[in-house]
Amino acid sequence: MRLQIMASVLEFILNGRPVRAEDVSPNTTLLEYLRSIGCTGTKEGCAEGDCGACSVAMLDQNSNGKNCFRAVNSCLMPLALVAGRNIVTVEGVANGELHAVQKAMVQNHGSQCGYCTPGIVMSLFEGFYRDDLKSDWQLDDQLCGNLCRCTGYRPIRDAAIEAFQKSRDGTDRFAEQLKKNPAELSGAEYRAGGESFFRPASLPELFRLLEENSDARLIAGATELGLDITKRYKKFSTLISVEAIPELKEIKGTDTEWRIGAAVTLTQLEEVLSTEYPPIAKMLTVFGSRQIRNRATLGGNLVNASPIGDSAPVLIAYDAKVVLSSAKEERTISLEDFFVGYRKTDLRAEEILKTILLPRIKPAKNVTVKREFFKVSKRREM
Ligand code: FES
Ligand code: FES
Repeated sequence: MRLQIMASVLEFILNGRPVRAEDVSPNTTLLEYLRSIGCTGTKEGCAEGDCGACSVAMLDQNSNGKNCFRAVNSCLMPLALVAGRNIVTVEGVANGELHAVQKAMVQNHGSQCGYCTPGIVMSLFEGFYRDDLKSDWQLDDQLCGNLCRCTGYRPIRDAAIEAFQKSRDGTDRFAEQLKKNPAELSGAEYRAGGESFFRPASLPELFRLLEENSDARLIAGATELGLDITKRYKKFSTLISVEAIPELKEIKGTDTEWRIGAAVTLTQLEEVLSTEYPPIAKMLTVFGSRQIRNRATLGGNLVNASPIGDSAPVLIAYDAKVVLSSAKEERTISLEDFFVGYRKTDLRAEEILKTILLPRIKPAKNVTVKREFFKVSKRREM
């Protein structure tokens, strides 16, 4: 489905119904907007992507281009990013009777004060419709972005085990939605109160917008930029999303390398690379919660050049390279040379990070190369 996005009206689907947001700042978070229209089931806890109380589900595409639901932190997501998208909140999960994940939570006594419960239900909702949840650790991983302060996790985990057993034979309105042909994310343009949001659908359009808007900030999953809005109270006058540009969203494997678009999410990366690169798989499980990995992009983590960014060390150990592109030319440099200082990269003003090149593993005869990933931190997923 393609929705027409007009300049001052932003449209998306919420719990199966079209919603039109008018004159709402593009810097408003999805969580703030949902609560302002009465969807108060979605809660605010930390407003920084740590607690999962604000989790909602978004219809997205997996690395095979198939429809899937992804649990995401609505507190970090500027509203403009949901233009043309399909969102499910805790209010839309039940249909006359409780959804299987809600029933399992009730039957297993998975809730006490209930503040975390809507977010947990939405993480369980994502898990319910996944067909790649096969091991125990994945069950924990599915819930690692949701904090509960009073129930204890065993009943919640028991609810997940019970509900996910049912999901294998499930046919319901959400399962039907997943079977449909995936809808491409269309370009969008939205303005309100002197602030602008653009979602170009091609690289030439992106470079044109960057040239015309010297104040623009590029945005993908917003897991970092969202913090600027919620914690540092910043307002961005112009946001340009890279989420609808096909070249930045694709992962392609050749005999010699993987070519990973900068806007590929970490969950998509995990789906494709985990078997071939165990240290990368290990890094991804502790990179952040499931909700964060569902939105955070590999390119975003690299251009931030954060000294606590988890992906750079392991990619450097694999001799990864980056393709930097401007309207006129492209250049390829090693990832190691891309970082030139504390939070500084070699990226020029007119350039974007387009692709990450990761060499394929081809062990030479009689040579054993051992690569491992270790993370030392007080809170493993942070
Ligand atoms: Fe805590 Fe969003 S409010 S993760
Ligand atoms: Fe109270 Fe989870 S039930 S925080």
